[in-house]
Amino acid sequence: MSRVSSPNAEGVRPPSYDDGVVRAFALAAVLWGVVGMLVGVIIAAQITWPQLNMDIAWLSYGRLRPLHTNAVIFAFGGCTLMATAFHVVQRTGQTRLFAPGLAWFTFWGWQLVIVLAAITLPLGLTSGKEYAELEWPIDILIALVWVSYAVVFFGTVGIRKVRHIYVANWFFGAFIIAVALLHIVNSAAIPVSLTKSYSAYAGVQDAMVQWWYGHNAVGFFLTAGFLGMMYYYIPKQANRPVYSYRLSIVHFWALIFTYMWAGPHHLHYTALPDWAQSVGMLFSLVLLAPSWGGMINGIMTLSGAWHKLRDDPILKFLIVALSFYGMSTFEGPMMSIKTVNALSHYTDWTIGHVHSGALGWVGLISMGSLYHLIPRMYGRTEMYSKRAIELHFWIATLGIVLYIAAMWIAGVMQGLMWRAVNPDGTLVYTFVESVKATYPFYVIRLLGGLLYLGGMCLMAWNVVMTARVGVARPQPIPTVLAAA
Ligand code: HEM
Ligand code: HEM
Repeated sequence: MSRVSSPNAEGVRPPSYDDGVVRAFALAAVLWGVVGMLVGVIIAAQITWPQLNMDIAWLSYGRLRPLHTNAVIFAFGGCTLMATAFHVVQRTGQTRLFAPGLAWFTFWGWQLVIVLAAITLPLGLTSGKEYAELEWPIDILIALVWVSYAVVFFGTVGIRKVRHIYVANWFFGAFIIAVALLHIVNSAAIPVSLTKSYSAYAGVQDAMVQWWYGHNAVGFFLTAGFLGMMYYYIPKQANRPVYSYRLSIVHFWALIFTYMWAGPHHLHYTALPDWAQSVGMLFSLVLLAPSWGGMINGIMTLSGAWHKLRDDPILKFLIVALSFYGMSTFEGPMMSIKTVNALSHYTDWTIGHVHSGALGWVGLISMGSLYHLIPRMYGRTEMYSKRAIELHFWIATLGIVLYIAAMWIAGVMQGLMWRAVNPDGTLVYTFVESVKATYPFYVIRLLGGLLYLGGMCLMAWNVVMTARVGVARPQPIPTVLAAA
């Protein structure tokens, strides 16, 4: 890892950005994206044809499902977030990373967490808390890595050469602080052996802490950091300033304040006190406003330059991601209304909602940002093949539409079948009849997933080719302090 670029005419080496760790995180993101989505396709096939569990415990659906969620959220999403946060904070502060050695510790520590997850989850070692399944020794490692990530990020903000802190850094910063808080509080546990622990909380408190964590994992891990990407990469790729800086500040404060209170919508009709469920519902409805404010700010950044969407596939990724963000943040508040949740909960509608956010928002914004970032890490302004990016965009979008449309139809159908009653009060349908009726939709979802995975493999090929034709040379920090 070199921290200086080649000498200039006077033989002086100008200081350069610390891009080695950014490059490593970006490449890891692509690799884990392929792996995580492949496991998603495998479990989608297992739901369709249960014989694919093959009677092998560590290949069974129940063990591979958390492997999928951990791989896509924390490995693919996490590496993308770390690559982009380290890239953006250096460029917008016009400074190199604070403590680059610690940044490399963050990289290798995070890869170790991922490998340990890939070993322990199939072995059935789990705390049983969704999105927080890893056992206590790994949780401690995560806390250490996360603190080092925070030190590097905030340290770099601290040594910036530009007075202003660009809004993207506010979103990355909030994401880093909130995830530290959520992880430490929700992972509090009493170990009974190296591989087994019990939650420090009991009963309904345990459920409440878990879904305070779970919902804010969505709000901060799957949203705030990716909004940071939106605020940097859309203006950069479109070569236009962000539509409204004032709106971005209102967006930031409104979003981070509101998310924290919405968790109880995951616990409707449970032992959680009714008033707490209503508070969750109310804050979820309010959340529509900041979410859409942010979406509008991102999309309107293109105002006056809509024609760029026609020929720039990277902008297509970034802008269509925002339209899926708008869709899922409209759907979420609707699903938080108790009477709607009475129909949607336990059905595939939830899975449709999750993946319109996950594939449509998180996936596409990550891919668009990485397509902007990766060539620049290899001394180029463009990826090896623009046509491959265009093809990736279309097959991924088609895959998302097939996936979420199938799950929406299946989910509403299941909800209606389960609540249908005869005049004498008996159920119209048995449970297994609803499972049989869902079968064709599972096949369509699998097809959608295969397309999405195919797109990701195409991206991996394009990245390898870009790395082969490019040169990973250090980029000098501009001496003229312009706003990034
Ligand atoms: C305004 C924003 C949003 C609100 C109010 C919201 C609300 C909801 C509601 C009510 C549920 C169903 C809970 C249940 O019945 O169990 C849910 C589930 C979920 N949502 Fe959202 N949602 C929002 C945005 C998003 C986004 C953008 C994503 C992804 C990037 C997302 C990911 C998820 C996940 C992963 C679950 C499933 C949690 C689980 O049970 O495992 N949500 N959301
Ligand atoms: C090829 C792409 C993908 C396929 C085929 C796929 C498939 C699946 C399947 C079959 C499930 C289990 C559903 C169930 O239990 O009924 C699932 C769950 C989940 N997936 Fe994916 N997935 C893909 C990509 C992603 C991505 C990119 C993300 C996040 C960035 C993601 C996040 C999740 C989450 C959070 C859940 C748990 C939902 C819940 O508990 O409500 N998936 N996925």
